[in-house]
Amino acid sequence: MSRKENCLFSGLIASLSLALDLEENRKLYHAWRVALLSWPISKIICPREAGIIFYGALLHDIGAIGMDDHIVHKAVHGTTDAIEIRRHPQRGAAIIKIIPELKHAARYILEHHEMWNGSGYPKGLKGNEISLGAQIIAAADLFDVILRRVGKIPLEGMLNKIRSYVSSYISEEIFGVLLQVLTTDFYNQLQSDQGLEEAMKEVLKKVPPPSEKLNDTTSTTSALAAVIDAKHQYTAGHSERVALYALNIGSEMGLNLNEMEKLQRAGLLHDLGKIGVPRSILDKPGGLTKEEFGIIKKHPQGTIDILSMIDVFNDIAYIAGGHHERVDGQGYPYGLYRDEIPLMGRILAVADAFDAITSNRPYQPTRNKEEAFRILQKNCGSQFDKKVVEAALEGLKDVDLI
Ligand SMILES: [Fe+2]
Ligand SMILES: [Fe+2]
Ligand SMILES: [Fe+2]
Ligand SMILES: [Fe+2]
Repeated sequence: MSRKENCLFSGLIASLSLALDLEENRKLYHAWRVALLSWPISKIICPREAGIIFYGALLHDIGAIGMDDHIVHKAVHGTTDAIEIRRHPQRGAAIIKIIPELKHAARYILEHHEMWNGSGYPKGLKGNEISLGAQIIAAADLFDVILRRVGKIPLEGMLNKIRSYVSSYISEEIFGVLLQVLTTDFYNQLQSDQGLEEAMKEVLKKVPPPSEKLNDTTSTTSALAAVIDAKHQYTAGHSERVALYALNIGSEMGLNLNEMEKLQRAGLLHDLGKIGVPRSILDKPGGLTKEEFGIIKKHPQGTIDILSMIDVFNDIAYIAGGHHERVDGQGYPYGLYRDEIPLMGRILAVADAFDAITSNRPYQPTRNKEEAFRILQKNCGSQFDKKVVEAALEGLKDVDLI
């Protein structure tokens, strides 16, 4: 595997992790801090697993996606008993198995809330029954939960607070290594956005690839799409289908190979920004309040923001984020008019709508292809581009609805 491909994968996972921590208009960096602190601890305790522990740490709270309040807040506010929250390690482990290259991280994620004295969850494991990777992630998680609760305090005070959890939450051994690696400089670096970005850049250069097999953009992108769709039952397979429908329309319109490849990646990742939208809103049957709709409407901007952060996805950010624009200028996030919307964005709008109409959603009965075509035609020139709809009627007429 080339260095570039590894950077793509690790960069993507780091961006996904940051996306999971996005709140309103700010980055929380919780998972980044946990991963950045886990890395030097693992390098000392179990260097051969440091890479996979790092990935596990980046995604340790992925099972909390879609929860109304971010898991971190619940932990900070002391309501960790909620049943829903206690399920996030299992959910996270199940989601991470979707990416075969990361399956070894599943155990660390499953056990990251186990406690040294056996009073953690989900299994109540004790001492070294808990995998080392999970112990390390738990210690780094504890650090960040305390940091977020107490704010900026001198390192000495922080270490004292963590020390009070030795033997209950974490082991003496892990604490000893944490003492070694958490220097004043590193501690300060973890507390500034710029410091975190720099530290992440450095680690990403060093972290080993999770697997030799991970050798193309498409399989990595597909794995991510599956993670996005895992958020709730109604979107299972949605991103794959939108990519497929878009390709059918694109080939009908005579796009070249390079454009088709872009279109596929944009289709797979178009709803990346939905990762930040609570499940209760996405799954809500019946009408949404103005406020809830406002939250949903932010997701294409989220997609643009996340994809823009990754070099190899810069070129598809505005295509993917253009799938809710309308040719009459009434769409979002920018209200672009006709050709101002990238052509591939207009294609995605039709592919996305076609799947939304023909798949089972909580707010509507499933409709067939003919009905979908009628709806597309009816909204031609207002919501959808006329030429794209014409290509869709041709390109999708023989497609099997999955
Ligand atoms: Fe957690
Ligand atoms: Fe966490
Ligand atoms: Fe969308
Ligand atoms: Fe979508």
